[in-house]
Amino acid sequence: MKLRRLDQILSSLGYATRRGAAAFVQEGRVKLDGEVVDRHDLRVDITKVTIDDEPLEAPDGFFALFHKPVGYTCTHSEDEGETIYDLLPPRWPERNPAVTSIGRLDKESSGLLLLTDQGALVQRYTSPKFKLEKVYEATVDHDLDESLVEIFASGELMLKSDDKPCLPASLEILEPRLARVIITEGRYHQVRRMFASQGWQVESLHRTRVGPFDLDGLAVGEWRLMDVPKI
Ligand code: URA
Repeated sequence: MKLRRLDQILSSLGYATRRGAAAFVQEGRVKLDGEVVDRHDLRVDITKVTIDDEPLEAPDGFFALFHKPVGYTCTHSEDEGETIYDLLPPRWPERNPAVTSIGRLDKESSGLLLLTDQGALVQRYTSPKFKLEKVYEATVDHDLDESLVEIFASGELMLKSDDKPCLPASLEILEPRLARVIITEGRYHQVRRMFASQGWQVESLHRTRVGPFDLDGLAVGEWRLMDVPKI
């Protein structure tokens, strides 16, 4: 059994700063084996600690699905208006390592975002070599043309200022102005730019699936904690 200092646990999981941990403990919110703890420097078995009578949140690694609404950016910077972190528990970005999104959705897009504190998972899932499928529904400004299916699938579609063509992508026309697009890369504003390169403007963009994960009943703004996927 591995023992760790309580103040270190509280700060690494984002509940309190290392300095604030003493006050946090004094508030009587922390219990060990059901008994209120009064010392922040106690070395404890992490599995026996509760906060506000709840077990510690994701002590062995964090992974969550989040349904991002339109109008929020995926950044930790505070200079870019409202961010997804304004919608999430403040302790998540305060964890060490911090919770961050795996890839991004642009401000005007909605849908599934994966969140984690596992750097290796971010690396793996965002690597173009890993070819993780991302599924989008895009509504466009005028009727779609069947020719786009072949162009998107060709592996030859070049985007302005990129030096390599996009990897083959799947496009399915669901309605005259609605398409399902599956890409395996994550270039800047990729889906919008793929359509724009052919003369279509994307008016709304929604991500429904990333790899094996989908929104599965998550309402806009909701999240679900999950086990960290094995990679
Ligand atoms: N493509 C886009 O254009 N925007 C996103 O947010 C994701 C993919």
